Amino acid sequence: LHIVHVAVEMAPIAKVGGLGDVVTSLSRAVQDMNHTVDIILPKYDCLNLSNVKDFQFNRSYSWGGTEIKVWHGKVEGLSVYFLEPQNGLFGRGCIYGCNDDGGRFGFFCHSALEFLLQSGFHPDIIHCHDWSSAPVAWLFKDHYMHYGLSKARIVFTIHNLEFGAQLIGKAVTYSDKATTVSNTYAKEVSGNPAIAPHLYKFHGIVNGIDPDIWDPYNDKFIPVPYAPDNVVEGKRAAKEALQQRLNLKKADLPLIGIITRLTHQKGIHLIKHAIWRALDRGGQVVLLGSAPDPRIQNDFVNLSNQLHSSHADRARLVLTYDEPLSHLIYAGADFILVPSIFEPCGLTQLTAMRYGSIPVVRKTGGLYDTVFDVDHDKERAEAQGLEPNGFSFDGADPAGVDYALNRAISAWYDGREWFNSLCKRVMEQDWSWNKPALDYLELYHAARK
Ligand code: ADP
Ligand code: GLC
Repeated sequence: LHIVHVAVEMAPIAKVGGLGDVVTSLSRAVQDMNHTVDIILPKYDCLNLSNVKDFQFNRSYSWGGTEIKVWHGKVEGLSVYFLEPQNGLFGRGCIYGCNDDGGRFGFFCHSALEFLLQSGFHPDIIHCHDWSSAPVAWLFKDHYMHYGLSKARIVFTIHNLEFGAQLIGKAVTYSDKATTVSNTYAKEVSGNPAIAPHLYKFHGIVNGIDPDIWDPYNDKFIPVPYAPDNVVEGKRAAKEALQQRLNLKKADLPLIGIITRLTHQKGIHLIKHAIWRALDRGGQVVLLGSAPDPRIQNDFVNLSNQLHSSHADRARLVLTYDEPLSHLIYAGADFILVPSIFEPCGLTQLTAMRYGSIPVVRKTGGLYDTVFDVDHDKERAEAQGLEPNGFSFDGADPAGVDYALNRAISAWYDGREWFNSLCKRVMEQDWSWNKPALDYLELYHAARK
């Protein structure tokens, strides 16, 4: 098959959250299964071009009253076309956050289809994502389907229904198949008016992570390469490096890591509560988070200052986006906490496990589908052919977090041998795209029937 993704994020060159990871890692998995994949992305001025190989001018065309320059390059082995309209729409120093984001991305979607048409591409599947490339679905069905791209089918993936539900609903209506990124989230949103009429073509497929991009055995950001067999040594070295780097006390304490966008979705009040709870229990806490909302950012700056006076050697909040540091935290933490209020899939709990860190999560969406509580979910895990791999809680109040976090920290203090075997076990679980990519391929084929 020939699959073209039209997307506004792609890791690691233009990533805001998990959508960017998924575009890259799903594409790589499908390409590895001998299909042809191209990605069309806006050429932002803030692209991280050092990660683009063979970057060169490809062609230019006119559309929408402007010239659009097309550049081509390779990112993580994937073929990417970058669209650069000469009207400067993508020269804003950011991916999202402008008043005219809707118009800018609408323009991008339209010009992407025009590019496919004018360049004589005949993809089998055009895969678009979230509200930002939703217009592809109806522009295609209204127009491009009848003009040269007739072979293509539209697959639309919802990563987060929170943003632009109306646009998303319209895209689901016009797509041949629609997906979201876990089964539980699919169920959670099935009553939404944007989705409810289309359940017959709506599927939940849990995301994977790219085992080459996230690989503790081959990771330039951590001190000692490790695999399940030397997980204890590898994580000890990473913890020391993390403590050193963040000027925390170098001691063997349970270390709780949090790597997140700081938004309502991620359970901010629960994150704050958990920080104090972990400190009460003698642990260390490292939070790496960036808040798009300045009020939330300020709130965490204040908390950071407060912790600096009360717990300078055991807590560090790093309030920025920092990919290299995230690798060191995944490796150096004992636990990764994800207390989201809702979570379509969530990737941090999967990456945590790849690095032998134990997820502590709220039971929602994809967190429910991928984390199985050591005390409560043995049967549910076995039904998936897995052993339990973490700690989880219900509810959205501090008591819930306490319930999971207390058990997690006690397990660390009371049974290091058992805990180390749990770290090894979670590393051995397969959260790659091996299976989900096959599910997508099945869906791509079904869309063409
Ligand atoms: P979402 O897409 O809702 O933000 P996901 O868990 O799907 O949540 O994906 C988040 C991705 O962004 C992960 O790859 C995570 O490692 C990364 N990430 C989140 N916050 C930061 C940060 N402050 N610095 C570096 N990486 C981050
Ligand atoms: C969204 C969701 C997150 C998901 C990611 C990738 O950002 O919030 O749960 O993992 O998309 O699909």
